[in-house]
Amino acid sequence: MRLKNKKAMVTGAGQGIGKAIALKMAQEGADVVVAERNRETGIQTQKEIEALGRRSLSFAVDVADRHQVDQMVAEVVATFEQIDILVNNAGFDRPGSLLKTKEEDWNAVFGVHLTGTFNCIQAVAPYMIEKRYGKIINLSSVWGKRGAVSEISYSTAKAGILGLTKSVARELGRYEINVNVVLPGFILTPTVSQMAEKYQRLIIEQTPFRRPGKPEEVANVVAFLASDEASFMTGAEVEVTGGWNM
Ligand SMILES: NC(=O)c1ccc[n+]([C@@H]2O[C@H](COP(=O)([O-])OP(=O)(O)OC[C@H]3O[C@@H](n4cnc5c(N)ncnc54)[C@H](O)[C@@H]3O)[C@@H](O)[C@H]2O)c1
Repeated sequence: MRLKNKKAMVTGAGQGIGKAIALKMAQEGADVVVAERNRETGIQTQKEIEALGRRSLSFAVDVADRHQVDQMVAEVVATFEQIDILVNNAGFDRPGSLLKTKEEDWNAVFGVHLTGTFNCIQAVAPYMIEKRYGKIINLSSVWGKRGAVSEISYSTAKAGILGLTKSVARELGRYEINVNVVLPGFILTPTVSQMAEKYQRLIIEQTPFRRPGKPEEVANVVAFLASDEASFMTGAEVEVTGGWNM
């Protein structure tokens, strides 16, 4: 119960890593807000959180839309009074090489990952500053660090999240707000399991553990970063890759 009575908001918590994070936070004692574009999966996660005995709210929200984010945050604060933990996890990929990436795909990927993360941080930060307490955890990717072929917009947006994390960590440190970034490797989620088998095999062969990660293995690390055990960590890049990125 490391997060007892804390109020957490997790974006993209309808499935995959985000859902695992939301449930882990509830198991650790937090009330959890599910900020998820897909109404049905968001409500399903909300129900599973409530079944664990915690309070939950779910919002069918597009994090790239500032107005929707502001409305959600105002409603959450009206109900929960504060937001102690923010996890920016929502995202999707539109694979494409340098020459073939379309402007609309570039903008969509930047919208969800970079603008979405910025929107949520900017909307929530004033409440954390007021309390002089807060934990912000952003989801990047090892591809944000090393680049990736035919992943131009995704890897660039994820690299932007590394820069955003560090700048926000520098600005908010004086208020005792921790801002860190998690870089997952290959984690088996509903979306990633659709990747061609030959690519999955290639990554697994390069991973010392010889297997993909589980969403819960990322969630455990995020829960640690959200807890007071990580009180002197900020601006840190934490890789959860099974050694793939060594
Ligand atoms: N799975 C991996 O191997 C892996 C590796 C590196 C990084 N990541 C990152 O981790 C995060 C989660 O990955 P995942 O595999 O669980 O993804 P996923 O596709 O399984 O789930 C993402 C969730 O985000 C929601 N979402 C998408 N756009 C949204 C928006 N605009 N507003 C609100 N919700 C939105 C989706 O509806 C979905 O429920 C993503 O940021 C992803 O880039 C994943």
